[in-house]
Amino acid sequence: MQVQTLGQFIIEKQKDFPYSKGELSRLLRDIGIASKIVHREVNKAGLVEILGETGETNVQGEAVKKLDIFANNQFIAALKAGGECCAMASEENEDIITIDTPSSKGAKYVVAFDPLDGSSNIDVNVSVGTIFSIYRRVSLSGPGTLEDFLQPGTELVAAGYVIYGSSTMLMYTTGKGVNGFTLDPSIGEFCLSHPDIKTPKSGMFYSLNEGNHLRFPEGVKKYIKYCQEEDEATNRPYSSRYIGSGVADFHRNLLKGGIFIYPSTAKSPKGKLRLLYECNPLAFIIEQAGGKATDGKNRILELPLTELHQRTPLFIGSPDMVDKAMEYMAKYAEAKV
Ligand code: AHG
Ligand code: MN
Ligand code: MN
Repeated sequence: MQVQTLGQFIIEKQKDFPYSKGELSRLLRDIGIASKIVHREVNKAGLVEILGETGETNVQGEAVKKLDIFANNQFIAALKAGGECCAMASEENEDIITIDTPSSKGAKYVVAFDPLDGSSNIDVNVSVGTIFSIYRRVSLSGPGTLEDFLQPGTELVAAGYVIYGSSTMLMYTTGKGVNGFTLDPSIGEFCLSHPDIKTPKSGMFYSLNEGNHLRFPEGVKKYIKYCQEEDEATNRPYSSRYIGSGVADFHRNLLKGGIFIYPSTAKSPKGKLRLLYECNPLAFIIEQAGGKATDGKNRILELPLTELHQRTPLFIGSPDMVDKAMEYMAKYAEAKV
C-alpha cells in the first residue's frame, strides 16, 4: 500500500489555497520536526528515570530539564529556525516570544502552543501531548506583538495536536476537515492514517475530573446524573473515562464519540484550561470534525481574548452530547454552586 507522508500531504493540500506561497506548509513542517524530537525524548522518559539521570546535571554536565521545558525549547527553536513565524506564545512563558531574525523578515504568522499537555502523567507512562495553533498576524511588520495573539478562535488559520501515546500521532486542520498522521518510527515520518476525521454525533464516554464534584456548577452535576441514568434508547449509562491528559481524553472522544468537560468550579470560577493554546485549537479541530465546543453557554471560538493566559470552562466533543450538557447548564443557570 502506498503511504502518504505528512510532507507530501501538506504539499498536495497547498493546491486548495491558490494564493498560498507555502509559508503555512513550512510552518507545519517545522512543527512536525519539533514533535519528532519531543517524541524521541518522551519515549526515553522511563529510561531516564531508571538510569538516574533526573538529577541536576546529566553526564555532559548539562542540566536535565523537565520534559515540558525541553518540549518548549524544541518548539521555540524549530519555529525560530523555520523563519515563517514572527512571534510565539507558550504556556511556559509569561510573555510572548518575539522573533526578529533575518530569516523571519516578512513572516506572516504567529504560533501559540502548549508544548507538553498532561505533563503530570510523564512519570507514569501515560500519553501526553502538544497542542498548537496558528494565526495570521494583525500587526504590520517587525516582530509580532501581543495583539497578534489576542484574536478570537474564529480567526485561526490552522491548529492541531500531537499525542505521544502507544503510537505518536499528529492531527491538524487548516479549516478544511481534520486529518491524522501516525509516526512510523522506522522511517521517521508521519504517515496519513486517519483521513478526514468526523466525530460521532453522540458517544458513550463522559470525561471530567469527578473529584471536583462538590465544586461543580449545578448544571454539570445534573448532567453527570443524566449520563449515569439507565436508558436503553440512548445507550445510557455512559462510561466515565478521564486520564488527566487533556489531549489524550480529547483524542479518545474525537475518535469514539464522547464529551470532555472542564467546568468552572467554586475554587476556579474561570475553569482551568487556557483559551489561547488549549481550548481554541481543540475547539477548531472538533468543529472541523463535526463536533462542538462551548464554555457551557457560548461558542469557544467566539470568546473574546484579552489576556495571553486567560482561562475558560470547556465543554467539548460530540455535538448532541455538548447540546445536552448545555441544556442542563441553561436549566440550572441560577442555582448556586
Ligand atoms: P498541562 O499539563 O499543560 O498543565 O495541562 C494539564 C491540563 C489538561 O491536560 C488536563 O485536561 C487537565 O489539566 C487535568 O486537570 P486536573 O488534574 O485538574 O483534572
Ligand atoms: Mn495543557
Ligand atoms: Mn503544558
